[in-house]
Amino acid sequence: MHTDIETVIHDAAAIQDRIAALGHEITQRFQGEDLVLLALLKGSVIFLADLVRRIELPMQMEFVVASSYGDATVSSGTVRLGELPVEQLTGKSVLVVDDILDSGRTLHAVGKTLREQCSVKSVHTCVLLDKDTQRAEELEADFAGFRVDDVFVVGFGLDYRGEYRNLPYIGVLKEEVYGGK
Ligand code: IMP
Ligand code: MG
Repeated sequence: MHTDIETVIHDAAAIQDRIAALGHEITQRFQGEDLVLLALLKGSVIFLADLVRRIELPMQMEFVVASSYGDATVSSGTVRLGELPVEQLTGKSVLVVDDILDSGRTLHAVGKTLREQCSVKSVHTCVLLDKDTQRAEELEADFAGFRVDDVFVVGFGLDYRGEYRNLPYIGVLKEEVYGGK
């Protein structure tokens, strides 16, 4: 598994430091609000687990399945969304949590569906990684951990064909692993 990694771009300690800072920012921002973190499965779970322990506010966690990648290393263009926990989100300040913002299609679709299906108080977004790429949707994250170059990264929740999520760091996958591109 580790031998499939070209370079480690953020190690475990650096990620924890950054998550602590994000948790602090979120704590300041959502004082006095009815906060729900809506995490996108599966990529965000590792990040979410560490992030929530850095938020010093009453809050709830909800989940929805979202996928846009399929098996490829480039965005497929269509976003599949599971059922939203509508009741649990009604009237709440919703912070959508994902592993990475790439084309923006996923967060755009989630935001749109949230506004259409639930009367939420507000929608904000938080991602561990913000990819430096051409967005398909005009959208920036409200809270972002690290900016990354336009390369395919894995680890800390991010996968390639379902694997590598358990790497404790974020690394660039060797091109030979996915056939280059
Ligand atoms: P977007 O809809 O193009 O913004 O893509 C967001 C989704 O694509 C994320 O939830 C990830 O699952 C996946 N994704 C984008 N870039 C990468 C990457 O470099 N590694 C692993 N997954 C990625
Ligand atoms: Mg994902």
